Amino acid sequence: MPGWEVQALALLLYEIKLWKQCRHELMYVGNLTVERLGHSQVITAVNGQFPGPKIEARDGDTVIVHVVNGSPYNITIHWHGILQRLSSWADGPNMVSQCPIRPSGGRYTYRFNVTGQEGTLWWHAHVSFLRATVYGALLLRPAPRASYPFPKPHREVTLLLGEWWNASVVDVERQALLAGGAPNNSVALTINGLIGGGDDEAYQQLTVERGRTYLLRIINAALNYQLFFKVAAHSFTVVAADACYTDPYDTDVIVIAPGQTVDALMRADADPAGRYYMAAQVYQSLASATYSATARALVTYQQVRDDDGLLAEMPSMPAFNDSATAQSFYASLTGLLQDGKPTVPLHVDTRMLVTFGLGVTPCAPAQTLCNRTRGSVAASMNNVSFEFPTAMSLLEAHMRGAPDGVYTRDFPDRPPVMFDFTSDAASADRAVMFTSKGTKVKALRYNETVEVVLQNTAILGAENHPLHLHGFNFYVLAQGTGNFNAHRHLHAYNLVNPQQRNTVAVPAGGWASIRFTADNPGMWIMHCHLDTHLPFGLAMAFEVDDGPTPDAVLPPPPPDYPQC
Ligand code: C2O
Repeated sequence: MPGWEVQALALLLYEIKLWKQCRHELMYVGNLTVERLGHSQVITAVNGQFPGPKIEARDGDTVIVHVVNGSPYNITIHWHGILQRLSSWADGPNMVSQCPIRPSGGRYTYRFNVTGQEGTLWWHAHVSFLRATVYGALLLRPAPRASYPFPKPHREVTLLLGEWWNASVVDVERQALLAGGAPNNSVALTINGLIGGGDDEAYQQLTVERGRTYLLRIINAALNYQLFFKVAAHSFTVVAADACYTDPYDTDVIVIAPGQTVDALMRADADPAGRYYMAAQVYQSLASATYSATARALVTYQQVRDDDGLLAEMPSMPAFNDSATAQSFYASLTGLLQDGKPTVPLHVDTRMLVTFGLGVTPCAPAQTLCNRTRGSVAASMNNVSFEFPTAMSLLEAHMRGAPDGVYTRDFPDRPPVMFDFTSDAASADRAVMFTSKGTKVKALRYNETVEVVLQNTAILGAENHPLHLHGFNFYVLAQGTGNFNAHRHLHAYNLVNPQQRNTVAVPAGGWASIRFTADNPGMWIMHCHLDTHLPFGLAMAFEVDDGPTPDAVLPPPPPDYPQC
């Protein structure tokens, strides 16, 4: 029998747990009509808002979101960057962690903890292209009495960067799949849902006070474009990326890939009589790309009377294909070392080399608009084009002991053939262009440490792909151009303070090495966060076993878990 002190302490801890806040949210998904570019468009949106509602929580909170689907489409919601410890059921990717919430009234309650996480994340639909309009911010603040590892900002400003189509995005995706080619480009970029470009387009406005510091929480919610972000006459100190603190990094340009977030302090130290644009502009890594777009918002100073007649100053943006600027930003970030926080694992149990990029596959019968001689675009990892299961989700199949026909455990640790991955010649080599298909996962033991060298291929063009891993943050040990070579590149690994992220923008025609500990049982998809590549198969999944103790076992699914 433990002493009374121990019992009293246990009771106190229990009381504290009860007192701790649970955040309840209701998300109603339905149609919303919005006017943009002089065109009125019906979109899928949450609670009649575009972008959707902001969710705020504190380190240690439990977040409970009741989703009701009143839209005509299947819906799932993903909490991008939330680790979902022992709550894989609430992760959200369609047919990976759950069957979709059915149209016209289906519901599901997502329940997860945000313990040990602080910073800027976001939520988005994780089915078809619907995340183009179904998204919002998810802000995690320090626990009560804890503080930021940087001077407290005067105010926080959330900036959701997105893309806009004058069309139904479900149709845009359907068209691309039928034709086996790239989807139609969006027609504009948005900042907090507003384009701020044309004459009668509304601007997002930010009024600042001279001498104050603002925390910009920047989220790239665009489907397919990496972005440059600048504010005329102002510069930034980056303090976090993907809700992982970084060493302070001073810059006047922020580069952000779809899925990523950047927290940056901006000091309002420009001439207060001026008016300034903040701008988000497309960054294209593909050499053949020609498309660019810019969204703008307005920054003005409080002390001066707003003078609409005064022309605002536009920041000088990098060229839309300035990979040097992009790469220098991405590779310069380092992780902030904090007492008591875990650091990069030095021992590696499993090493993988995973090639990924585009490829070709014969047109399927259902691809009625596909060019039969050319074939369909495919995308793959280690040459496997990931096929989403249809009968039940990967996670449900995992719980049922991996029944035949849902997935196989043979995702390869290496590409099936070695070739010069980043040479243009790869696009002419039919032996490496054709992808295989399958629903293959890589099985991991609980607590295994895994290193993955993510190697871009140049098949159909070298391009920077943002790879996102669900369920974990990983350390980015090094990145570079060309083919990864252990002899040359291992010494470049940062094993002291590498940046942690949930999405890494792997250099065009290059590679990135990441490391993580598989300490979270469940099914976790890793995929390209360009929606133009995900449905063509640029994905794979890790299946992580339960651990030996009760606190390392995935509990059963919630009672309202959607059925297929
Ligand atoms: Cu932001 Cu799998 O997604």
